[in-house]
Amino acid sequence: MSKEPRASFGGKLSVILVAAGSAIGLGALWRFPYIAGKHGGAAFLLVFLLSVLVVGIPAMIAEFAVGRRTNKNAVGAFRSLSTRWSWLGYSGVLGALLISGYYYLIAGWSLEYFVNSITGSIFNSDLSFKEQFALFQGSWRPLIYGVLFILMTHFIVSRGVEKGIEKAAKIMMPALFVILIVMAVRVAFMPGATEGYKFFFSCDFAEAFKADTIMMAIGQAFFSLSVGMGCMVTYASYFKKDNNMVSTSLNVSLLTLVVSVLAGLVIFPAVFSAGLEPTEGPSLVFVTLPEIFKGMPLPSLWSAIFFLLVILASLTSTISFHEVLTAYAAEEFKLSRKSGALVTTVVSIALSAVTFFGLFGVDFFTIFDNITANVLMPLGAMFTCIFVMWFMKKGFMREEITNNGQCNNRVVATLLFMLRFITPLLIFYIFIKNFL
Ligand code: PHE
Repeated sequence: MSKEPRASFGGKLSVILVAAGSAIGLGALWRFPYIAGKHGGAAFLLVFLLSVLVVGIPAMIAEFAVGRRTNKNAVGAFRSLSTRWSWLGYSGVLGALLISGYYYLIAGWSLEYFVNSITGSIFNSDLSFKEQFALFQGSWRPLIYGVLFILMTHFIVSRGVEKGIEKAAKIMMPALFVILIVMAVRVAFMPGATEGYKFFFSCDFAEAFKADTIMMAIGQAFFSLSVGMGCMVTYASYFKKDNNMVSTSLNVSLLTLVVSVLAGLVIFPAVFSAGLEPTEGPSLVFVTLPEIFKGMPLPSLWSAIFFLLVILASLTSTISFHEVLTAYAAEEFKLSRKSGALVTTVVSIALSAVTFFGLFGVDFFTIFDNITANVLMPLGAMFTCIFVMWFMKKGFMREEITNNGQCNNRVVATLLFMLRFITPLLIFYIFIKNFL
């Protein structure tokens, strides 16, 4: 391995922005609104919030501990703590590969919509937005834009941890917040917007505590917080030793929740104002929103701003799973960082092509999504908690959470209890229920 000192992220704020960059993405902007729409609005939000607190945050801290202690890629990190647990690192790498197989393609949709907004072509067409979406899906363009998205990600990741990843997050994350708030304010003035707020904030408890709502909410917490597939392990390997991991994870989760709620505040009032259905499904953002922009002055401008937002948020997420693979390839196969990134990019293009062409008529899109969000991520998170609490030497997590006693966190005892019992048991229970 190279003798150069290992890269690290700058101060506290950089760490939060970079990790929040990974977390906030299509999960918050695209997945959350349509799932919430299907599962009763605020009811879903409530269960999602609980899932983040009980499952997401403890699991994220466990991953941080593994990464920061070892300063290695996901596989190297688990292996250097215990050779018998290196498979957990490999499951993370597998998760990153599977997610690479479909995430870039969806992210690419927003590139197409961004370009078409700038040229104005989506608003000048005679076809309905639904027809336009179907036509787009039936063409080569999703693959072309997906590959373009991979190349953008490659460009940033290959520039390195500080100059690429950290710098990108510092520019893109604030831009994302500004755009989202501008959109939320703009939408508030649309006629009929209050119906959307009513829908989003109406609380149906019967819906909230249905088994499948809970399952969806926990899955959403993993997906949205990037927990359970080595991503936070890899990022934490660049943390400085004095980073307060509890406060980092709380900040990252809070930002993710805020963005998810803001996304709801943009999408639901807009959807109702245009008299559309909030339960449209995965195409919610791509089919319903253009409809809404159409009724506004300067539709191309608003639409371009919105899809730019989706692009920025997705890019800080694609960077993070590209980095899982790049760090793995570079460190484990003793390649330069640039070559590691190149291998990752070539593999990602190949996987996206497989998904796009759906070899042998298999729907890889759904398969990859299901395996990552419903199997690998929950199991990865569960075993990470079990590993750090039951198989590492006594006191490992306490040392990590308190930085060897440097920061006396008031929540240490609660957190350790959750990590030891509640979080893994809950994941196990939900996981089993999901498959029975
Ligand atoms: N959290 C990201 C999102 O919400 C997706 C992601 C999952 C990124 C796992 C990295 C690892 O879009």
